[in-house]
Amino acid sequence: MVSDPTDLRSGSSRRYVGGRSPALAVDRITQVFEKDGEPLVALSDVSLDVRQGEFLTLVGPSGCGKSTLLKIIAGLLNPTGGSVHLGGSAVTEPREEIGLMFQTSTLFPWRNVIRNISLPLEIMGTMEPDGERRVADVVELVRLQGFEQHYPRELSGGMQQRVALCRLLVSDPDLMLLDEPFGALDEFTREHLNTELARIAEHEHKTTVFVTHNIREAVFLSDRVAVMGTKPGRILDVVEVELPRPRVPGSRRLEEFTETVNYIREVLGLF
Ligand SMILES: Nc1ncnc2c1ncn2[C@@H]1O[C@H](COP(=O)(O)OP(=O)(O)OP(=O)(O)O)[C@@H](O)[C@H]1O
Ligand SMILES: [Mg+2]
Repeated sequence: MVSDPTDLRSGSSRRYVGGRSPALAVDRITQVFEKDGEPLVALSDVSLDVRQGEFLTLVGPSGCGKSTLLKIIAGLLNPTGGSVHLGGSAVTEPREEIGLMFQTSTLFPWRNVIRNISLPLEIMGTMEPDGERRVADVVELVRLQGFEQHYPRELSGGMQQRVALCRLLVSDPDLMLLDEPFGALDEFTREHLNTELARIAEHEHKTTVFVTHNIREAVFLSDRVAVMGTKPGRILDVVEVELPRPRVPGSRRLEEFTETVNYIREVLGLF
């Protein structure tokens, strides 16, 4: 169940493709902020390789640096030290092939569902020749058919996050970064969307880094979970999740699920 934490750069899996070089390499990242005139070490020596097609989740308590690490991987923040490489080239600024999704939906209220989803294609100038078909495909993938002409205010929070997920998928990014995308939703909607996201991830095989402080969500979705600790923000352990795929609601009842959740709780000092 549990991978050797000193062995982050090796290992094999049933699902990953590619294999030899990681899709994403995070190498000795350190991030120091200033707080009240004092240095605050938000991240200390964080290294992590994410394989092609892998779903990796960062889990840890508030303030352990999850969002900071995601911003650095996205090229939105230049770290104090260390480097990030995607497909072998250094990430120093935002890139088209990196897609982001946040906790609160950032939909445009004056655009309907279809026009919110097609926005990245309009911006990139890639609506032609097959943009409309791609938008229709992702709408079907997240099961939003029938809501194409609705405006965000006419949708529930869960549906708004589905639209945001469509917008992320439609530009076909090499790397998807999701920061607590279901954090503002109730437990029922969250579990349901987790099941949907697992199905989509299994269908799309996108390299994904997902952030949450919900351990059950992390285990349900992931191939591996990087468990982070605080003061300073760092990786405590990387846990291989050996739950079979496809992940279905019943996966949560498997012994392996409970064992992995409990192991992560132990690493976080919750027992
Ligand atoms: N721009 C900034 N300037 C100063 N300090 C910052 C900045 N961004 C983050 N921090 C600090 O860095 C630490 C890590 O913050 P971060 O937002 O990455 O945590 P997190 O793990 O995402 O937490 P949460 O689960 O609450 O979202 C915190 O102590 C935060 O106060
Ligand atoms: Mg955060």
